[in-house]
Amino acid sequence: MALREIRLEGDPVLTKECKAVKDLTERQKVLIEDMLETMYDADGVGLAAPQVGVLRRICVIDVGDEHGPYILINPKIISKEGEQTGQEGCLSVPGKAGNVTRPMKVKVEAKDLDMNTQTYEGEGLLARAFCHEIDHLDGHMYTEIAEGPLYEVRPEDEEDEEDGSNNGNGDDL
Ligand code: NI
Repeated sequence: MALREIRLEGDPVLTKECKAVKDLTERQKVLIEDMLETMYDADGVGLAAPQVGVLRRICVIDVGDEHGPYILINPKIISKEGEQTGQEGCLSVPGKAGNVTRPMKVKVEAKDLDMNTQTYEGEGLLARAFCHEIDHLDGHMYTEIAEGPLYEVRPEDEEDEEDGSNNGNGDDL
């Protein structure tokens, strides 16, 4: 496994639509391992393939729940319910956050590592993460839909996650 370079806002790779995965290749399996390692190293709770320069419909999420990491291949949102407005950040926009309205609950269908179809339900931060990462796969950033200006997040806010808990504040996706 290896850390990959996280692309930052302004990099054109973050504005492109990703292609679906047909058969998961060995290279793509290595990519997924690297994405998990890169996400954990950066203290993020989600990472999408274009953020490491790969235009494929793959993302990883770990909000610290009992499910462990979600590995989503060709994910799509199949239903949405309710609404939440809250702080959202992104590993491609370090040190900043904004307020974004997302559904409170979403249901997602995605392929797993065996290319079997799975369905996941997410609420709160997990629903936010599903939406944020799937937006990345379509070339969209949260900064396009943030309400009001982005604001600085203090480094000490992010260090709260050192104990492995995720409280939904200042978690970069
Ligand atoms: Ni992001």
